[in-house]
Amino acid sequence: MENQIPKALQFSHKQRYVRLEPASVKKVLVLQGSPRKEGTSKTDIVAGAFAAGCRRAGAETETIYLREKKIKQCQGCFHCWTKSPGKCIHDDDVADIMKAAEGADLVVYASPLYHFGIISLMKRYIERTLPGIEPFLIKRDDGKTTHPPRKGFKYIQNAAIIGVCGFPEVEHFGAFSANFHYIANAGGEFGMNIAAEIYRPLSEILGNPFYREENDRVIGAVEKAGCDLIVNGYVAPSLIDEIAEVRLDKEAIYEMANKSWQICIDKCMTMSEFQEELAET
Ligand SMILES: Cc1cc2nc3c(=O)[nH]c(=O)nc-3n(C[C@H](O)[C@H](O)[C@H](O)COP(=O)(O)O)c2cc1C
Repeated sequence: MENQIPKALQFSHKQRYVRLEPASVKKVLVLQGSPRKEGTSKTDIVAGAFAAGCRRAGAETETIYLREKKIKQCQGCFHCWTKSPGKCIHDDDVADIMKAAEGADLVVYASPLYHFGIISLMKRYIERTLPGIEPFLIKRDDGKTTHPPRKGFKYIQNAAIIGVCGFPEVEHFGAFSANFHYIANAGGEFGMNIAAEIYRPLSEILGNPFYREENDRVIGAVEKAGCDLIVNGYVAPSLIDEIAEVRLDKEAIYEMANKSWQICIDKCMTMSEFQEELAET
């Protein structure tokens, strides 16, 4: 029997990109969600190149490493909606991160793909931004339900999304991308306005000198994307495609990856330790 998708489950994944006013972005905040340290994190390599491009275009950049921050889990108590409107029960680093985001003209959400989704650390931060909206149910332009933004919080936040993943196909970012677009579309003109999405599959080869040519191509394109977004207010789709495209033979990738994993197993090393050793030789 044919495996049909139920009608009710044919979700639309509406991608809406805003065009920023050219040269209007002066301050860029990168929220980096990888648990790995600088030098090991591939998210950091891509986000770092993007930020360098933004700086080349004259913007100021700041990076907040979420792994260094105290971000407690939302308790679901809705205290921030009723007993202390706009204020969470938790006293940790989230309010400061939200303030930094409000002070930026563009927030870059940079996350590795974990189990086909946004990494939990970043998701935990996003969930904690609940005090920024009110509990009331309102109808948005397309007839669907949403919550209104809360006075005293920034109404419109321009955003760029960066994702890296281990597999060599960009299609794995489907749910990750959809999650960000659902969040962005929830508020219509308010809330998160996505200006660009940059996805780099096969991220584990980044920094590996054996793949210098491919890596230099990708990093150069990511830097250009950062620069273009600030200068022109958008990133050309062809450039996004260039970043997402893996110009290496898939069978050769499997062979390299599987050999590397086998060495790590045999030598009882982590992949990071193995990569560090490779870089030194
Ligand atoms: C728990 C876990 C889940 C992962 N899930 C996926 C996945 O669903 N698809 C994929 O292509 N890569 C997956 N990866 C690989 C990471 O996306 C990849 O290693 C990436 O480079 C990590 O980024 P980072 O170096 O910035 O931490 C996963 C890695 C871990 C540790």
